[in-house]
Amino acid sequence: MGLAGRRRVRPVGDIVMQDYIAGLPKAELHLHIEGTLTPDQRRDFAARNRITLPDDAFIAKTPTPAAEGQSPADMAAWSLAEFLRLYFLGLETLRTAEDFRDMMVAHLRNCAAENVVYSEIMFDPQAHTTRGVAFEAVMEGLLEGRRIGREFGADSNVILCVQWDRSPESAMATLDTAKPFSDEIVGLGLDSTAVGTDTSDFELVYNRAEDEGYRLTAHCDCDIPGAAQRIRDCVEILGVERIDHGINVLDDPDVLALVRDRRITCTVCPTWRIGDPGPRRITQLKAMRQAGIVVTMNSDDPGYFASRTMGNMVSEINRAGLFTEAEIAQFMVTAFEHSWAPAETRARHVRSVHDYVAAFERPSHG
Ligand code: ADE
Ligand code: ZN
Repeated sequence: MGLAGRRRVRPVGDIVMQDYIAGLPKAELHLHIEGTLTPDQRRDFAARNRITLPDDAFIAKTPTPAAEGQSPADMAAWSLAEFLRLYFLGLETLRTAEDFRDMMVAHLRNCAAENVVYSEIMFDPQAHTTRGVAFEAVMEGLLEGRRIGREFGADSNVILCVQWDRSPESAMATLDTAKPFSDEIVGLGLDSTAVGTDTSDFELVYNRAEDEGYRLTAHCDCDIPGAAQRIRDCVEILGVERIDHGINVLDDPDVLALVRDRRITCTVCPTWRIGDPGPRRITQLKAMRQAGIVVTMNSDDPGYFASRTMGNMVSEINRAGLFTEAEIAQFMVTAFEHSWAPAETRARHVRSVHDYVAAFERPSHG
């Protein structure tokens, strides 16, 4: 029987439930390493690199759409653009290989503390190389951080993201630069804002990346104009096997069927901002799961969102009550199974979730 079919694991109230979520082995497939920088970290990196930035670079608040009279799609595009403005400002605090290493280690320490035992971590090289930071310095730092994380039980792989809002030529040049590191990079993604861009512009980039052995994903941000069509184009033109976000499959039955039938993984982010009442997008997460879509939960940019890190976010989702603990465990099984880790690693983690749930269900916990 699948985990989600088992009885509720709700032994003796909230404390035990939260312990259960805390101890559950977790995986995350959609996280931007530059988005892990908290306001304090951004301040520390800016100070150590003697970089002066506008106050916006250090604020905790992510924007909530204010503009009245706009369509929901325009509001979503505005909100994404405002978030990205702060995100790209904040990452200007990073300069050296040591910065990238320390950022990675700090993040992986949080993972270890929350039993996030495996993560796929995106990075945005174009935002660094265009500021004069060498690609090699970025990689050296991230890979050293990954190595250190593995020593304390937080395993990870990295995904190189090129940006929708930069040219395909720049994306190609980034693949050239990445060539010596391609064995250490598990996949290629596309992030930043797709608004106003053409998916087919990136077809050759994706063809080449596939030839070079990268696994393929792309962001289709939530509710932006043309979101469902964008998902279709990423699957049919770019040949992705994963969509980052992807909740707008629910807008179009044909796109939903395409994503379901091709077993495309949607890495949904039920994050929330300061001022939001709680986890967003959990009803969509539930509907996607019920429609047979392969779907996972992810924290995206924990340094910028009130939802913070994966462990905290999953715990709050559990409290919201829409999913049983067994369903939450099943989300983790799905994430491990559809991760880009080697087959033995995936199988080992899946077993560990099953063992964990079985141990919790024994009467000694009841
Ligand atoms: N880069 C970092 N976070 C992002 C997000 N949520 N969407 C698109 N690009 C991003
Ligand atoms: Zn993202």
